[in-house]
Amino acid sequence: MDLSRRLQCIADEVLPGSAVADIGTDHGYVPIYLYLKGKIRKGIAMDIGEGPLARAKKNIQMYEASSVIETRQSDGLEKLEIGEVDTIIIAGMGGLLIQQILEGKTGVLRTVQRLILQPQRDQEKTRRFLHKQGFKISNEQMIKEEGHYYTIITGIPGQESYQREVDYLFGRKLIEEKSPILKEYICDQLSKYDTIINNIQGYETEAVQKKKEEAIVFQNICKEVLQWL
Ligand SMILES: C[S@@+](CC[C@H](N)C(=O)[O-])C[C@H]1O[C@@H](n2cnc3c(N)ncnc32)[C@H](O)[C@@H]1O
Repeated sequence: MDLSRRLQCIADEVLPGSAVADIGTDHGYVPIYLYLKGKIRKGIAMDIGEGPLARAKKNIQMYEASSVIETRQSDGLEKLEIGEVDTIIIAGMGGLLIQQILEGKTGVLRTVQRLILQPQRDQEKTRRFLHKQGFKISNEQMIKEEGHYYTIITGIPGQESYQREVDYLFGRKLIEEKSPILKEYICDQLSKYDTIINNIQGYETEAVQKKKEEAIVFQNICKEVLQWL
């Protein structure tokens, strides 16, 4: 079974012998792949929707993975018992929804050993959330697939906080390792904000002026980080 690069990066973060819950599993590909590679002792593929869960169930049966992977219809962590798994994957959702899901059952967060998160947006908030909940960021990966940027953030229990705002904004690990994808992303952001500034040229209302100032501040942050990459 071949995974997309995004899903492969997520699967690579799972430690051998783990018990994994994939929240919002949809197709169920990540737990199925992990089962086929002999990497997990237990998988729970969970989704809020009947349709996605039926899809996951069908795929799990097709790959004869039902002895290791079970499916559960659940809103977030609702149907996950405390201590049932050591690893939680939540991918392909907004950062705020991921946060809401994890906050929904903080008892689970206290027993879990690994959080593998791929927020579609609000990555900055996800990093802050992990630190606030007593997780260190052990790894970050940034990839570009079919024109979209994806960030995969892995958290493990531990105390950590970043002093620099840019580390929350762009990811300290990605900055430290001089990620070429982060560099490309920041260049894209700079030109996107150039376009915004050009488009609002000539409109001198207070709101527009404020927007322009914010864009310039953001661009200056981008330019500073670019020097380190
Ligand atoms: C875009 S898909 C992502 C699927 C897969 N995780 C991936 O990354 O390819 C989002 C999935 O999350 C599910 N979902 C949305 N809100 C949820 C919630 N509160 N609890 C569980 N699943 C949820 C949706 O039904 C959908 O199947």
